[in-house]
Amino acid sequence: MTSMAPLLVAARGGTPSHTPVWFMRQAGRSLPEYRALRQGTAMLDACMDPEMVCEITMQPVRRHGVDGAILFSDIVVPLKAAGVDLDIVAGTGPVVANPVRTIEDVRKLPELHAEQVQPVADAIGLLLKELPQQVALIGFAGAPFTLASYLVEGGPSKNHERTKALMHGNPELWHALLAKIADVTAAFLHAQLDAGVQAVQLFDSWAGALSERDYREFVLPHSKRVLETITTVPRIHFGVGTGELLPAMREAGADVVGVDWRIPLDVAVQRLEQAAPQLPKPVVQGNLDPALFFAGFDAVEREVRRIHAEGKAAAGHIFNLGHGVLPDTDPEIITRTVELIHSL
Ligand code: CP3
Repeated sequence: MTSMAPLLVAARGGTPSHTPVWFMRQAGRSLPEYRALRQGTAMLDACMDPEMVCEITMQPVRRHGVDGAILFSDIVVPLKAAGVDLDIVAGTGPVVANPVRTIEDVRKLPELHAEQVQPVADAIGLLLKELPQQVALIGFAGAPFTLASYLVEGGPSKNHERTKALMHGNPELWHALLAKIADVTAAFLHAQLDAGVQAVQLFDSWAGALSERDYREFVLPHSKRVLETITTVPRIHFGVGTGELLPAMREAGADVVGVDWRIPLDVAVQRLEQAAPQLPKPVVQGNLDPALFFAGFDAVEREVRRIHAEGKAAAGHIFNLGHGVLPDTDPEIITRTVELIHSL
């Protein structure tokens, strides 16, 4: 019998042979081999090229020896594949040609059919042949709120003012919008699951912009509907600035709760346990500030040791950053960090 990948053992609250580690945005601009391969190919075209997706997903696995491979894609890929006119602009992020603001706009939003993301499924097929057995392949999608923010604002937003205006000014329209996005998100995740991903992460990157009350009323039911459809693999639920939302995000459906760098893991565990004493001890992921990689290895080592110790308060800890790898990060320090975590 073959043993289960350490990341999947930790995600289930078991005791793996070593602390598993991967990094959000590990596949991307911090790697020279990524930049070389991407030369001349637009981001969204790269996401629809199975060989390229496979190679970029493999790059950080080969270089850093991480325990998880995050599928190279983007949260807007399913929207684009379904027919929404949008692009990813370098240095800016997703830009939507016709922002969604009226009931007519919501009605016009297309559904996603699995064949529209067949190249993603093909890439997963290639990856399952190439990945070492101990490395878990993680699929992902954007959560309804974070995708809604891009669709409503038309691009990245600091204050999410149009999104919040719609949420509070026209709740009926808001819920219709989130329900439609939830269908797209679920369809994208199921296309990945059918192709064989071994865990999934729902990125609600901007949920931390909301109060807990608003999150519960306007977002949680939709994320919950997506996550409830996934019963076969561990589900990781992640956001930034979500210290106040962690119990609600677990309630939405999460086997693993993502934690940014703003609160320590033992505090996160305490909040999760107090909110739901009837549930099993929580599993957490994250916590290292991505900016720490610019502070030198001694500073990283101190933080890694602290986080590793505090992570013992959880039933399982998947080591990760509190958000994605920053583009100017030195890849060498990432590799050394993985070696350190594996040695603890
Ligand atoms: O390594 C990985 O984590 C896998 C790939 C991945 C990408 N985007 C590739 C990417 C993942 C998991 C994402 C998710 C994603 N995309 C999120 C959620 C995670 C988070 O960071 O909060 C969000 C909010 C997006 C939207 C998005 N796409 C942004 C904000 C940007 C950055 C814009 C910029 O250029 O600074 C993108 C583009 C993007 N997605 C890049 C990559 C590697 C950079 C584009 C490029 O290399 O040309």
